[in-house]
Amino acid sequence: MHDMSAADLRSAFGGESMAHMRYKVWADVAAGEGFPNVARLFAAISRAEQVHATNHFQALRQVGGAFLVPSMAGFGIGSTSENLAGAIEGELFEINEMYPAYMEVARMQKEKAAVLSFHYALAAEKIHAAMYAKAKEAVDGGKDVALGTVHVCKVCGLTAEGDAPDRCPVCNAGKADFIAFA
Ligand SMILES: [Fe+2]
Ligand SMILES: [Fe+2]
Repeated sequence: MHDMSAADLRSAFGGESMAHMRYKVWADVAAGEGFPNVARLFAAISRAEQVHATNHFQALRQVGGAFLVPSMAGFGIGSTSENLAGAIEGELFEINEMYPAYMEVARMQKEKAAVLSFHYALAAEKIHAAMYAKAKEAVDGGKDVALGTVHVCKVCGLTAEGDAPDRCPVCNAGKADFIAFA
């Protein structure tokens, strides 16, 4: 694999791994503040970021070794409103800068596995940003967010509120490939 695509996959793996853990921590904070649906949203999206990290790692299967991995990563444990603001900021960075730039490089280098892994992540991050924005609005109004069952595609990380789709609109996985957070 070309070095730049591999470096981007490693960075994205680092970023997604940390997002996975960060959202777990923030889920606990939300539960403690009496926002069970926000906690469930953080837990579901944490699972989606695990899917992205796993896909990036698998795309790198031929590029073993030890590397220092720089990744953009937010730190801090605030109130749930502040944590949601941090989550939105991180998702928007991925949507507006990181994944479009990484995809462009991977396409130019004809690294198909990297392009697909970045494409899967980017599609889900757009949904995450919107779900977090809705949650922040509710929390800032002093309420928990209204949230149906959340389904996460274990192949691509697509995150959908309500019934699991018959086919994943991003990766075409079947209904059985969705994990429910009810
Ligand atoms: Fe995300
Ligand atoms: Fe999917």
